[in-house]
Amino acid sequence: MRKGILLLGGSGTRFKPVTNVINKHLLPIMNRPMFFYSLSCLMISNIREINIISDYQTVILIKKLIGHGSNLGIKLKYTIQKRPIGIPDGIKLSKRFIGNSDYALMLGDNFFYSDNLPKLLTNISKEKNNTIISYKVERPENFGVIKLNNNKTIKKIFEKPKKFISNLAVTGFYFYQNRTLDLLNKLKKSKRNEYEITDFNNLIIKKFSLKNFELGRGAVWLDSGTPNDHHETAKFVKIIEERTGKKIGMLEEVAFNMKFINKQKLISLAKNNPLTEDREYLLKTLK
Ligand code: TTP
Repeated sequence: MRKGILLLGGSGTRFKPVTNVINKHLLPIMNRPMFFYSLSCLMISNIREINIISDYQTVILIKKLIGHGSNLGIKLKYTIQKRPIGIPDGIKLSKRFIGNSDYALMLGDNFFYSDNLPKLLTNISKEKNNTIISYKVERPENFGVIKLNNNKTIKKIFEKPKKFISNLAVTGFYFYQNRTLDLLNKLKKSKRNEYEITDFNNLIIKKFSLKNFELGRGAVWLDSGTPNDHHETAKFVKIIEERTGKKIGMLEEVAFNMKFINKQKLISLAKNNPLTEDREYLLKTLK
């Protein structure tokens, strides 16, 4: 079974001063912390063993919130990242956890929404490939951007290119084969003194192959890494939830839909939920 890594570290520079005292992944989007949305993306990919990476203080708080995942039918492990020296460092720190499995890596401030997302992601996760999820954006210069070969395979990824390459941005959700772990020690720190995920992906393209899965325009990809983006994501979640009556990032509901927990467990979680709105919502999902 594929394992998952959820990255909740980083410096949160663009979110200062609030991130001087709180990790941005704990900031709320509606009444749920930001990372519930990214954690639910790993869960709807049918990934049940997840390593959460964050700083020492945040790991304590997250453990308080969701513990080792037994209520959700998942297994959560925790690893402390002492210094935010880059996204691939989160993979390095998870090597023991990953063992011989394939793995997926999710950035904690990324947000996905689409009608058929569980099916799409479960299928990608089931395949034994290296796959990145891409999305067409208006301003590609702010992202890692994909250059495709004529046959639609990935030729190279360019980090925040000044010259136009394409509109296809690399999102923060990656599916990797176990053998990619061998490439980690080939990575060198960049000018900003970090190990870069774009360098890792380009190494994978060179040594193995990297599949591009483009999310269509019916899907939404957002990130909440700046106050403005965070506000936009919160607005989106509020609008969808109010209009449809369906909540996003409700971990108990996700666990039930994925069959990680049974009906009795969901009922008992709902009954223990002190918030009337959430209690009633969870009980309604059974009807
Ligand atoms: P970034 O948004 O690139 O970095 P950041 O969160 O530190 O924010 P800023 O640029 O404003 O300083 O990180 C993307 C995601 O990866 C985010 O969810 C945090 C996570 N991350 C880690 O967990 N460890 C790291 O060493 C880095 C660089 C990022």
